[in-house]
Amino acid sequence: MEKKWWNNSVVYQVYPRSFQDSNDDGIGDLRGIIQRLDYLADLGIDVIWLSPIYQSPNDDNGYDISDYEAISSEFGTMADVEELIKQSGERGIKILMDLVVNHTSDEHIWFKEASKSRENPYRDYYIWRDPLENGEVPNDLTSVFSGSAWELDDQTNQYYLHLYSKKQPDLNWENPKVREEIYEMMNFWLEKGIGGFRMDIIDTIGKIPDKLITTNGPKLHDYIQEMNRATFGQYDVLTVGETWGATPEIAKLYSDPIRQELSMVFQFEHIGLDQLPGKPKWDTKKLDFIELKAVFSKWQTELGNKGWNSLFWNNHDIPRIVSNWGDDSPEYRIVSAKMFATFLHLLKGTPYIFQGEEIGLINTPVTSIEEIDDIETVNFYNERVSENYSNDAIFSSINKKGRDNLRRPMQWDSTENAGFTKGKPWLALNPNYSSINVLQDQQSKNSIFTYYKKLIQLRKENELVVYGEYKELVPEDKQLYAYERSYNGETWLIVLNFYKKETVYKDSQQRTASIVISNYPDSSDNLSDLKLRPFESIVFKLNERYQK
Ligand code: GLC
Ligand code: CA
Repeated sequence: MEKKWWNNSVVYQVYPRSFQDSNDDGIGDLRGIIQRLDYLADLGIDVIWLSPIYQSPNDDNGYDISDYEAISSEFGTMADVEELIKQSGERGIKILMDLVVNHTSDEHIWFKEASKSRENPYRDYYIWRDPLENGEVPNDLTSVFSGSAWELDDQTNQYYLHLYSKKQPDLNWENPKVREEIYEMMNFWLEKGIGGFRMDIIDTIGKIPDKLITTNGPKLHDYIQEMNRATFGQYDVLTVGETWGATPEIAKLYSDPIRQELSMVFQFEHIGLDQLPGKPKWDTKKLDFIELKAVFSKWQTELGNKGWNSLFWNNHDIPRIVSNWGDDSPEYRIVSAKMFATFLHLLKGTPYIFQGEEIGLINTPVTSIEEIDDIETVNFYNERVSENYSNDAIFSSINKKGRDNLRRPMQWDSTENAGFTKGKPWLALNPNYSSINVLQDQQSKNSIFTYYKKLIQLRKENELVVYGEYKELVPEDKQLYAYERSYNGETWLIVLNFYKKETVYKDSQQRTASIVISNYPDSSDNLSDLKLRPFESIVFKLNERYQK
């Protein structure tokens, strides 16, 4: 496979509302991100993925766009974006824009026009259906944010489709005019010198609502190939699609270079492993560790030369890994955060870091719905209240899976509001900011930030980390994850204790090795009887005679 610049890149996701406020109105903004570029350059990342910064009524915090070529006044101006692209570029950092084209906001001019009459030239930009004879919704499609996916427009007496909130009407991709408008808009951004796109729920654009097909519709890949030809195919950029139901076979359709579609996709198989099968994400079960290993091994091996993995634990939708599958108590927060980092950053693929992950930020439990901003969580709450679930059950789900867990403001220091704003923050901070923050972490000898920096550096300095073959060891072990990476005659062995209980790794071939990095200061290199403390994770380079 031809080597690409994004093969050895590390992406950092910024959630602009919550990163840094520069004018003390309580909302993070573009100038704020510019102020923090040196911090990101110091971490060593190559790309910033910006969650949406476009004009939006913020029903879904920017994922409901009312003008793709205008910047939300809360975040700044177009000149600020250009300045961000320029100043990032000077530090070797590219900007990845969030492309949200399954739907627009209902306040987008296209939708305002479309809903005026059935004859309006924009009507076909969206998906409209007549009511059934009894006036009911056209079919049983449901919204990801609860309830029916159909909303009646009283004025024209037709339902429009919204797979997300009713303020996020789905675009009709079968209409060539829609596709042309979107490609033009993408080119507008590409000409500004961006580094690529993260494509919001891109797997839904080929939907056939009348057949209840939402993801992976028959025309999906035709559209993506057309988009590639019409837009980013002319540029050397990174494109990553959000594809919830992707299997390795499906991922190869997107990312096999010969097909000229995307650089890579986000697949979510590992994320679903603590969910009850067939149930909404809120209904959880204990993580099955053996299954977790099988899923990662499958993705690490099955793409082969026909695809590229994206690697992530968190994003603005998926709560903190250190809280959910690690241990966020004061005793183990730091080691467990480093363990998850070691695992991910030693895999094959492009790693993504969500803001605050690099200092081990944790979830923010709440006890009342007034503390919540996120529309998905609020709708879930109302639905479960109406179904008579207990308050305890509802909040146990929210505190595990609710999206506000990681949308709270970034914790920079221990001054008021953690240095995020001097105003009133749009969403309350996690009260732990006086002890958990960037400054405190960077001054500690156990710094998580410094550890991430080293992991990123390892990827830069060793092609083995980027391209090496992956091979899993001890797949049946109930608490150890061990795997090898091999490249050009060199082999590294990564051994991780995923749990608090101590355990032992015994190398079946009795090999010897030296330590590359570890999350304890005094790890042992005795592979024939390697004792691992809580969450201990060690990367070894095997000695010469054991190399393949
Ligand atoms: C994606 C985004 C999520 C958003 C949804 C609708 O899943 O990551 O935040 O709510 O799409 O745009
Ligand atoms: Ca601001």
